[in-house]
Amino acid sequence: MASPSLLLVVLVSIFAVSEAQVCSSVAFSKNRLYAACSALPHLSSSIHWTFDRANTTLSLAFVAPPAASGGWIAWAINPTSTRMAGSQSLIAYRQSDGSLTAKTFNVTGYAPIKPSPIDFEVWDLEAEESGGVMRIFAKMKLRKDMTVINQVWQVGASVTNGVPYKHAFQPENLASMGSLNLINGISSSTGSDSTLKKRNIHGVLNAISWGILLPIGVIMARYLKPFGAADPAWFYLHVGFQLSGYIIGVAGWATGLNLGNKSKGVTYSIHRSIGIAIFSLATLQIFALFLRPNKDHKYRFYWNIYHHSVGYSVIVLGIINIFKGFHILNPHQWWKNAYIIVISVLGAIAVLLEIITWIIVLRRKSVKSSKLYDGSGGRQGVQQPLHV
Ligand SMILES: *[C@@H]1O[C@H](CO)[C@@H](O)[C@H](O)[C@H]1NC(C)=O
Ligand SMILES: *[C@@H]1O[C@H](CO)[C@@H](O)[C@H](O)[C@H]1NC(C)=O
Repeated sequence: MASPSLLLVVLVSIFAVSEAQVCSSVAFSKNRLYAACSALPHLSSSIHWTFDRANTTLSLAFVAPPAASGGWIAWAINPTSTRMAGSQSLIAYRQSDGSLTAKTFNVTGYAPIKPSPIDFEVWDLEAEESGGVMRIFAKMKLRKDMTVINQVWQVGASVTNGVPYKHAFQPENLASMGSLNLINGISSSTGSDSTLKKRNIHGVLNAISWGILLPIGVIMARYLKPFGAADPAWFYLHVGFQLSGYIIGVAGWATGLNLGNKSKGVTYSIHRSIGIAIFSLATLQIFALFLRPNKDHKYRFYWNIYHHSVGYSVIVLGIINIFKGFHILNPHQWWKNAYIIVISVLGAIAVLLEIITWIIVLRRKSVKSSKLYDGSGGRQGVQQPLHV
């Protein structure tokens, strides 16, 4: 089983390539300099700050691309909880007259918001926009005990009636919160970050198993089989790929169920239903293996039809669901492109092998039918077409 494990290693190492550091490369206008910075784990954003401990003044810059042009960005301290409700927010957006502004908002929930005073004194509040990113600059007077704060950040796509309109509810938007240690600069995310990690693991396991190993296993069975020499190697390769794909896939499926149960309020019902269908059909395939009639049993023909139709359904549903998953998880476009390349290469290999196999089959057939013409061939002229 060298090749699937090799593939796994390659993929995992690709996935492990760390994200580029955003914060070291940012230069600010008006020679603003900050002592510390932290690339935030979601929404391609970063926070830069200087904290004067003696007078508890926080000087900060928050940088993020708005969700769309004409959108908004927000950064907040939440003194009472780790989530959005209660956020003492700084929001940059374009007002009805098109001018860019930054204002404070006391955000209590998802109800429409309006500018309002917040718990902290704020001054030098400014917004900037260029090169597709917005920046909020501000100075804030914190309370004496505040050296580790709960920060919440967000981006939105539009401004309605002169105020920021609610943000999207993608995993990235729901996970953008965490704590920030103003003294040592360590930022850590709260529970939601482990959810994001689980989602990524779920995605990787399922893409590798249902999306890559199973199609390779089908290619093995279909194209090694016509070459008599590869018998019974094709069978063991096929079973090996499908079985390892199934085991990894079930692990991925279980992480998905777990995520589904934990995701309160947001359900991806189609993705979930397709996932359950894939698991059921694949499990059926495994058990049907034990019921496989002998090669020359009269029911073998029907078993083959069943095996192929269920097998191909699993592959097709698997690929559809991987793309649904991409849509939900919304990872960097890179991952989607990488998967499209892998699956296209597999598809191209399959088409090529299909053509080669047919050429071989047709050649054998013509050799045999010319023998038949000689009168020496018997009934061999009836070449069995491909069986997989
Ligand atoms: C806090 O101290 C810094 C210098 O260390 C000064 O620039 C700033 O204005 C002070 N802030 C307040 C609110 O006194
Ligand atoms: C922000 O809103 C909450 C809830 O409505 C309120 O209790 C709090 O006093 C407000 N803060 C400020 C500074 O107005």
